[in-house]
Amino acid sequence: MEQTIVRLRDEATQQLTQISNAADLEEFRIRYLGRKGLFGTIMRELGTVSAEERPRLGQLANSVKAAIEDLFAEKQTALAGDTRTKKGQGSIDISLPGRYPEQGRLHPVTQIMNEVCAIFEALGFSVAEGPDVEQDHYNFEALNIPAHHPARDMHDSFYVSESILLRTHTSPMQARIMEACQPPLRVIAPGKVYRCDSDITHTPMFHQVEGFLVDTKVSFADLKGVLTIFTQKMFAKDLALRFRPSFFPFTEPSAEVDIACVICGGAGCRVCKQTGWLEILGAGMIDPEVFRMVGYDPEVYSGFAFGLGIERIAMLKYGINDIRLYYENDLRFLSQF
Ligand code: DAH
Repeated sequence: MEQTIVRLRDEATQQLTQISNAADLEEFRIRYLGRKGLFGTIMRELGTVSAEERPRLGQLANSVKAAIEDLFAEKQTALAGDTRTKKGQGSIDISLPGRYPEQGRLHPVTQIMNEVCAIFEALGFSVAEGPDVEQDHYNFEALNIPAHHPARDMHDSFYVSESILLRTHTSPMQARIMEACQPPLRVIAPGKVYRCDSDITHTPMFHQVEGFLVDTKVSFADLKGVLTIFTQKMFAKDLALRFRPSFFPFTEPSAEVDIACVICGGAGCRVCKQTGWLEILGAGMIDPEVFRMVGYDPEVYSGFAFGLGIERIAMLKYGINDIRLYYENDLRFLSQF
C-alpha cells in the first residue's frame, strides 16, 4: 500500500510537468483527483488495511494528495496566464483604425465673446473683468439710477442682500474703471449678467460686453465710427446701421442701434418681423452726471459707451431662434459651431 502511494506520487508529479494545455490538465484531474480517480481509490482501500497501519498510511495518502493538488493548482494558473497572452496576440487586428481622443471645442457663446473682444482689441481697447456679485452702488447708483428710479424696474434683479445683487448688466464696469483710472480710456468689459427672466429670447444668466471710451473732444460720430467697424467685422458684411433715439440713465443722448437684417438684407422677413432691422445694442454719450460721480470734469472730458448682448449677436449670426439652446448642453447643437 505504501509503495502504491509513493508510486502514484512520483507518477503524478512526473505527468504534471509534461502537461502543456488545458485539455491534458483536465484529463489529469479526472484521472488522479476526480471522485473516481486514483487517489479516491486509495482512500477507499485504506478501509481494508489493518487498524495499526491505517493512521500512518492515511496520513501519508492525505499529504501526498494535498501536495499533488497544490502542484495541479500551480499548473492551472500558469496555463491560464499563457492562454490569455496567446488570445490577446491573436485578436489584435492591425488594420483597424486607431481610436482618437474626443476633442472638445469652445462653446458658441465663448467663441462670439472672443471674436467681439478681438475686434475691439484691434481698435485699441483693453479688456477688463469685474465681479458678478456687485454692489448696488456700482450696478445702479453710480450709473445715475438712484433708489426708486423707475429704470430699476427694467432690470428684474436678483438681490443677495439689500445692497448686494448679481449684476444686471456689465455697465457697472464703467464706474469701477473710471473711479480707478484717469482718461484717456478705451475699455471693454465682457462677462456674465443676471436677470430674473426666462423665455425663448431670455435666460436668467447671459453675457454682455460693455465698451466705453473717454477722452477730450469725443463725439457721437466717434461712437458711430467704432460701431460701424464692429458690425462690419462681426457680420463680415457692409450692413447699414440705424440709431434710434432711446433712454438710458447713464448716457445722454442715448440710442438703440439696429443693423440691417442679416437674413433678408433689409427687405423684410420673419426674423426681423418685416421691419428690415435687427436691434443689436444700446449706446450713447456718457452722461455728465456719471462723470461727476467718479470725479471727472464733464467740461473737460466726453465719452461714449455701449452695451451688447453676446447670445443675441450669436443668434443673429448663426440664425438661432431659441436662446435656451445655448444652455441645454446638447452636443448635437453645440458641435455645429
Ligand atoms: N446696460 C444696458 C443694458 O443692459 C446696455 C447699455 C445701454 C449699455 C447703453 C451702455 C449704454 O453702455 O450706453 O440694457
